[in-house]
Amino acid sequence: MNAIDALLTRKSAAKLVEPAPDDAALQTLFQAAVRAPDHGCIRPWRFIYFKDEMRHELGQIFVEALKKNNPEATQASLEKEANKPLRAPLVIAVIAKVQEHPKVPAVEQIISAGAAAQNIMIAAHAMGYAGIWRSGSPCFDEYVRSRLGAIGDDMIVGFLYLGTAKTVPPMPDLSLADYVSEWRSA
Ligand SMILES: Cc1cc2nc3c(=O)[nH]c(=O)nc-3n(C[C@H](O)[C@H](O)[C@H](O)COP(=O)(O)O)c2cc1C
Repeated sequence: MNAIDALLTRKSAAKLVEPAPDDAALQTLFQAAVRAPDHGCIRPWRFIYFKDEMRHELGQIFVEALKKNNPEATQASLEKEANKPLRAPLVIAVIAKVQEHPKVPAVEQIISAGAAAQNIMIAAHAMGYAGIWRSGSPCFDEYVRSRLGAIGDDMIVGFLYLGTAKTVPPMPDLSLADYVSEWRSA
């Protein structure tokens, strides 16, 4: 698929099944990720991927976080957390490692990590895979953050759920006029 087609047809899919990107495809996804624009070339992104059984360990991290935040959490809610990473055969955590920089504020480093995440989503789609970018409370939870190595101003910008789409929702019909205007002098 060419780049324009990939950009114009990417659509999130929440129902994801095998096959996930294999090891060669994963390398391509990460090569695409590290082509994200990056002010100051400080490479503020880190990627941790969870596949196969390792997804259960991510689920346990989510469970521990919920237990810490709510010792009264019901068994059902704990199970829901445990099962979250099992919603796709592959999950990639994208983390912005934010550092003090004289010219590059934190927000630019976080945007760069977001661009890296989107490169992964587009590259996966171009290779015939599908996915959905999710955040939710785990992104902002101190326990989850620390387990994934996000400290200080670092941000978990998302968890990318990837695999093959079971069903793909229809494309929304967006009118560019709602978002785009040409500047005209007053
Ligand atoms: C930073 C970020 C976090 C998101 N978090 C969630 C989430 O937690 N749950 C969810 O259902 N969608 C989340 N989304 C939205 C989906 O990834 C997706 O964009 C949305 O369902 C619209 O579908 P589309 O991408 O096909 O237009 C998030 C998107 C972004 C950019």
